[in-house]
Amino acid sequence: MAVTKVALVASLMACMLITYSYSTATLTCDQVTVWLTPCIPYAVMGGNVSSLCCQGVYSLNAAYKNGDDRRSACQCIKDRAALIPGIDYNRVNQVPVRCGTKCPYKVYPSTNCSAVK
Ligand SMILES: *[C@@H]1O[C@H](CO)[C@@H](O)[C@H](O)[C@H]1NC(C)=O
Ligand SMILES: *[C@@H]1O[C@H](CO)[C@@H](O)[C@H](O)[C@H]1NC(C)=O
Repeated sequence: MAVTKVALVASLMACMLITYSYSTATLTCDQVTVWLTPCIPYAVMGGNVSSLCCQGVYSLNAAYKNGDDRRSACQCIKDRAALIPGIDYNRVNQVPVRCGTKCPYKVYPSTNCSAVK
């Protein structure tokens, strides 16, 4: 009984993973969004970046496996940022610096995420 349940949950999860992934990237936009949502207050209002935001940035950096991941994360952040009223792109690009790390690309409305290596 318990084994059946575990198998069912596992196959449901496999299903979800397949549904949410696109191209050959292993990172989903939903995952990127969950990690970076705590950074939105800083991107809009300034002040200090929260530790939750920095943890998200570290998780994202650790999750990049290849260029597809970086390109899809770039596109994801760019698309989602465009939906946030009052977003300040200079602050968006300051977030990794504030967290003492780096982002492999800069996000602006004009960023060509396909060109990210
Ligand atoms: C930012 O953090 C510093 C150091 O923890 C603190 O002195 C400062 O008041 C904070 N600024 C804001 C706007 O929260
Ligand atoms: C974006 O970069 C890709 C890859 O370098 C290139 O093929 C494409 O033409 C670029 N698009 C724009 C709008 O510059």
